[in-house]
Amino acid sequence: MDKVTPPRAGGMPMTARPTRWQEAGASGNFGKRFAELIAAGKDVDGEARLADALLPRGARVLDAGAGMGRVAAALVQREHDVVAIEPDGALVEQARETYPGLPIEERNILDLSPDDGPFDLVVCVGNVIVYLAEGTERTALAAMRDVLGERGRILVGFHLQDPPPHARVYTAAEFEADVASVGLRVDLRAGSYELHPANDTYGVWILSRAGG
Ligand SMILES: C[S@@+](CC[C@H](N)C(=O)[O-])C[C@H]1O[C@@H](n2cnc3c(N)ncnc32)[C@H](O)[C@@H]1O
Repeated sequence: MDKVTPPRAGGMPMTARPTRWQEAGASGNFGKRFAELIAAGKDVDGEARLADALLPRGARVLDAGAGMGRVAAALVQREHDVVAIEPDGALVEQARETYPGLPIEERNILDLSPDDGPFDLVVCVGNVIVYLAEGTERTALAAMRDVLGERGRILVGFHLQDPPPHARVYTAAEFEADVASVGLRVDLRAGSYELHPANDTYGVWILSRAGG
């Protein structure tokens, strides 16, 4: 099974490569949009509701690429033991202001080590996967695999078509090939966080260790 280390290719450590999110410079707009939605009382908990349905009570959860913390906060509210990581410092700051006490660290998925686990669930939703730095998808998937507990799972969701600016196009077939290449398997594929049938627009996957 592939190892997360050494995270190097082309002489540059993978963690030094700019994420597509950094290249997009979308942090401010994204943070503002969610602040407005929350202030207006809109529902921003859809991903967290599905995550919660996958978990026993009081489970250990990693929110990988947590943005301004909305999913992590909704899972804390549901009494899970949550760790959130997010490399964008401005979003980490916003998360700390919006959700005081939220356990969020300024960190990259690629920096995870198996010692950070074990988690019952890794949540990697809201297009994180299509905003990773170019060429780091398999390494990121392997890093999330390595922090899973024995029956741990990964919840992933992203746009399959019309990705936001600077996000990559990642087809379902290409994603599933990368999933298989790092020893993960697809337990479920759906088309929304309310588990509508799989479609070509949005992909939601539940993954676990192959052979687990
Ligand atoms: C559209 S935002 C989604 C944020 C959050 N998951 C949500 O749904 O509200 C995409 C996020 O992916 C994060 N991201 C991109 N590459 C990452 C990496 N290597 N490790 C952790 N987060 C990453 C970005 O910093 C950004 O916060």
